[in-house]
Amino acid sequence: MSAAAEPCFRINGLRRLDGVLRVNGAKNAALPCLAASLLSDEPSRLRRVPDIEDVRRFLEILSALGVESEFEENEVVVRPSGVCAGSPPDNLAAALRASFLVMGPLLVRTGQASCGTPGGDVIGARPLDVHLAGFRALGAEVESVGGRTVARAANGLRGATFVLDYPSVLGTENLLLAATLARGRTRLVNAAMEPEIVCLAQMLRRMGARISGAGGHTITIDGVERLGGADQELIPDRIETGSLLIAAAVTRGRACLQGVEPDHLESLLGKLSEIGAVIRREPGQLDIEVGNHTRLVATNLQALPFPGFATDLQAVMTALLTQVEGTSVVHERVFENRMQHLDELRKFGANIIAGGAAPVVIGPTPLSGAVVRGTDIRATAALIVAALAADGPSRIFGVSHLSRGYSDLPGQLQALGADIELARSADTLTN
Ligand code: UD1
Repeated sequence: MSAAAEPCFRINGLRRLDGVLRVNGAKNAALPCLAASLLSDEPSRLRRVPDIEDVRRFLEILSALGVESEFEENEVVVRPSGVCAGSPPDNLAAALRASFLVMGPLLVRTGQASCGTPGGDVIGARPLDVHLAGFRALGAEVESVGGRTVARAANGLRGATFVLDYPSVLGTENLLLAATLARGRTRLVNAAMEPEIVCLAQMLRRMGARISGAGGHTITIDGVERLGGADQELIPDRIETGSLLIAAAVTRGRACLQGVEPDHLESLLGKLSEIGAVIRREPGQLDIEVGNHTRLVATNLQALPFPGFATDLQAVMTALLTQVEGTSVVHERVFENRMQHLDELRKFGANIIAGGAAPVVIGPTPLSGAVVRGTDIRATAALIVAALAADGPSRIFGVSHLSRGYSDLPGQLQALGADIELARSADTLTN
């Protein structure tokens, strides 16, 4: 696609956001729950599924493996027909990181699984050693054949105690999926504790799995003979919720977000309060308000596994920190290369001193409209947030990254009063 024909978001900043919104279901819960459908011959229904590219791609992967599905009005019905087999087409495996989640279910059901190198955001090396060591601990042989991962367990998987070197989210999910049908008891020690894991475990239990401890450091799974279908509503998307709260704060606006789970956002809510935003929480609802004359002050943060500050909100929060008074240090401790938004934020006039994985943000700096490019899902969202606070028009490229992970962030911002639109190709030539 030529640069001139490339779509972009056109934003006129300095509009105060104000309004009420219901957030969507979580991307990172949808993908493992879809993978869970491979563990049964019976249909499953998922509710509150976000209509995003990654979900559409995952459904194509399931289709290639013999699972039919219907996706209408945020509900997916998956209909596996017999034991699914095969491997995700390489182009789809490369489209998203979560494609690798088919490995656990296929391995435990068929004794063999393979997958090309999974893609996704380029934010670090993103190795797969935790997944592979876990499969080996459950009795599989794993090798790399022509760039593909191939795992075999001719005699089936057997439960084991496995200590994860790192609490990888997808690693925990892959092993949880595999262990549900393994023989005997599996203990996943140093497991990821993200709310999306709890959602997956809830669905698996509805399918008949015996799982305890999800949401804690150790998950215990007693393997069962077979699993049935399930009806599962996904949890609200905490990253979408957080992005909208931050967007409201950066415009010194107000937002009332409904259908949310405040308990999943403690770390962000703490930081927003610390810098001076007023947060009101009720079950299922979060309100944020920042007045025109409210003094917003700097804070430091560390992106960490849950319940620490979510790495997926680090870039978006950095955009907000350019607008607060004082010096903030943002320490990214999950991904080693998740700072690609910084150069682009500087194009708006942000004062950010590079510090490897811990840049220093000095604020507040007045931002001016800029032409910038997002390089991954959350970096693109961060640039949108910066543009909302910038004087004058901005154009944000990287539209396809955003639609992988947000159902309709621009539409939601528009509903809250932002001046944002998807620009047609000819429009991209001028501001
Ligand atoms: C998931 C989320 C992603 C989020 C991330 C961290 C999905 C679909 N994606 O990604 O949005 O940013 O959690 O919250 O749910 N690592 C290893 N070895 C492994 C696996 C991971 O060293 O085998 C490292 C990674 O390189 C990274 C860190 O662990 O530095 C975290 O990765 P992980 O938790 O696995 O993230 P994902 O599950 O890929």
